[in-house]
Amino acid sequence: MRAAVIDRAGAEPRYGDFPEPEPVTGESLSRIRAAGLHPLVRSLAAGAHYGSEGVYPLVPGIDGVGTASDGVLRYLGLVRAPWGTFAERVAARLGIPLPPGADPEVIAGTLNPGMSSWLPLRSHVREGKDMGTVVVLGATGIAGRLAVQNALALGAERVVGIGRDEARLADVRALGAQAVRLADRPSAIVSALDGASPSLILDFLWGSAAEQLWSALAAKGFDEKPDHTVHVEIGALAGASAALPAALLRSRAFTVRGSGAGSASLAEIMAELPVFMERVARVEVSAPIEVFPLSRIAEAWAYRGPRRVVVVPD
Ligand SMILES: NC(=O)c1ccc[n+]([C@@H]2O[C@H](COP(=O)([O-])OP(=O)(O)OC[C@H]3O[C@@H](n4cnc5c(N)ncnc54)[C@H](OP(=O)(O)O)[C@@H]3O)[C@@H](O)[C@H]2O)c1
Repeated sequence: MRAAVIDRAGAEPRYGDFPEPEPVTGESLSRIRAAGLHPLVRSLAAGAHYGSEGVYPLVPGIDGVGTASDGVLRYLGLVRAPWGTFAERVAARLGIPLPPGADPEVIAGTLNPGMSSWLPLRSHVREGKDMGTVVVLGATGIAGRLAVQNALALGAERVVGIGRDEARLADVRALGAQAVRLADRPSAIVSALDGASPSLILDFLWGSAAEQLWSALAAKGFDEKPDHTVHVEIGALAGASAALPAALLRSRAFTVRGSGAGSASLAEIMAELPVFMERVARVEVSAPIEVFPLSRIAEAWAYRGPRRVVVVPD
């Protein structure tokens, strides 16, 4: 079959031939309609993610939309390496029917980045925690912009979106968040919070960006109010490590946890995927996509614009 093929860690993908996957028990063979080029796809392909298996050559792509022999459009995932969704066909363990009328390309581009905030937000609501103010650290990316929309839809009274790109922060503002530039002093974060303590931080950056936010939150004074904040680590684009100030842990009830493959429960993901997919299908939440044919995979891979790349077989 025709596929995007990566020959070794760090290599660019080429459009070529790759052996057809043969489904094993629990997998179904599907014809791919669309697959999203998410940051995870790049880091897995480069061998740089904790989930990388180091088997090359490989076909990149972790999820997508396709049809099995029954012709039903399904959201597909859980694909066995070295196969992936940037190909004509895939054998996948996960297959969830799309809601009627859903656009396969939009679903392929939106589910991975959107679910990254939907899951922690929904568990925050389920645990009966107050939503109040939500901070999105790294709000200018696709996952960040979807996080702003998800937080507002799930009852956040105020969303503070933090990012580094001024033009893209204007988009964040247009979605209803208060936007803060990372380059500004921590006091800019303090004034955007306007005395409120965030109940939830959705963090796509970690590293120095998380440190900057923590230093703003640690300057709390002797206020006796028992502020509970949950910091959810989702991405690490600003650094793999971050130093957590002791004062932050003493000055409020502060919990740090992660959300990703391995920490989010599969049962929870399975329960929430159809709910979020329905919202995407009804255009209650959206992110811009840019569609490329599979034969132009080199161009798709090189794209670094503000849209989520979606690859479709020729
Ligand atoms: N754990 C999970 O389940 C899960 C799921 C989805 C995504 N993620 C992760 O979440 C992160 C964001 O994903 P995405 O889909 O939103 O990616 P994206 O659309 O490529 O956006 C990345 C954003 O991060 C910004 N950025 C990059 N480096 C930065 C830095 N050093 N300081 C400040 N901003 C920086 C970029 O800003 P500029 O515009 O200024 O370049 C861009 O707006 C990725 O690491 C991804 O792997 C995790």
